[in-house]
Amino acid sequence: MKQTYIIRKETEHDYRAVEELTREAFWNQYVPGCDEHYFVHMMRSHPDFIPELAFVLELEGKIIGNIMHTRSRLVDEAGCEKQVLTFGPISILPAYQRQGYGKALIEHAFSAAMRLGYDTVVIFGNPGNYVSRGFRSSKKVNVCLTGDVYPSSLLVKELIPGALDGRKWIFHESPAGECCADTEAAAAFDATFPPKEKRWQPSQEEFFIHSHSSIVR
Ligand SMILES: CC(C)(COP(=O)(O)OP(=O)(O)OC[C@H]1O[C@@H](n2cnc3c(N)ncnc32)[C@H](O)[C@@H]1OP(=O)(O)O)[C@@H](O)C(=O)NCCC(=O)NCCS
Repeated sequence: MKQTYIIRKETEHDYRAVEELTREAFWNQYVPGCDEHYFVHMMRSHPDFIPELAFVLELEGKIIGNIMHTRSRLVDEAGCEKQVLTFGPISILPAYQRQGYGKALIEHAFSAAMRLGYDTVVIFGNPGNYVSRGFRSSKKVNVCLTGDVYPSSLLVKELIPGALDGRKWIFHESPAGECCADTEAAAAFDATFPPKEKRWQPSQEEFFIHSHSSIVR
C-alpha cells in the first residue's frame, strides 16, 4: 500500500460509485457475471442494514473499496438469541486488490463494531481472505447452520475473545440477501450499467468447492 487513504462512512452521494465498484470487484468472480451490486442497492433499505457500519475507502478522492454490514442472529440450544454482525459485500477495485486495503477496511470496521457494542462477526467467505484477520472455522467455536453441519465457508471472529463461551449456536443469516432470488429484477438493475462480458474463470470452481464443503460431526 503506497498511497495515503481515508476510510469514512458511506453517504447517499456514494451509492452509485459503491454499486459500480462492487460490480467491478465481483464480476465473474463466483459465477459468470454477478448480482452483488444489486444486493448492495437493495440492502440499504432493509431493516437489518447498519448504516453506521457502511464504510468506503478513498484514495486521492476516488472510492476504491467498501464494506457493508447487516445484523444476524445466533440462537443457542435453549432458544436464547444473540445479535451478531455479518459483513458483505466487501469489495476492492481489481487494480488495487492484494495491497492491504481490504485488511484496512475490515480492521476499521472491527473497531467501529466494538464501539457499537458488537462482540462477534459471522460471515460466509473464502477462508484464504479472512483467516489472517482472526476468523476461525465455525466448527471451532461451535456455530452451525442446522444439526451438526459446519460449512467450511462459515467463519467466525470473536471481537471479544470468548464472547461465544463455547456453547452450541445456530446461525441465522439476515434475509436481506433474498432480494437476489428475483433474477429478473437483478438483471434489470444490471442493465443500467455499461455492458460487460459474462464468462467462466477458475475462481468460480474454487467458490463451488468452498460453498459445497462442510465439516459434519
Ligand atoms: C476479498 C477482497 C475484499 C480482499 O481485499 P484485498 O485488499 O484484495 O486483500 P488484502 O490485500 O487486504 O489481503 C487480505 C488477506 O488476503 C490474503 N492475501 C493477500 N494477498 C494474497 C495473495 N496474493 N495470494 C493469496 N492470499 C493473499 C492474505 O491473507 C491477506 O491478509 P495478510 O496480508 O494479513 O496476510 C478483495 O480481493 C476483493 O474485492 N475481491 C473480490 C470481491 C470478493 O471476493 N469479496 C469478498 C467476498 S467473500
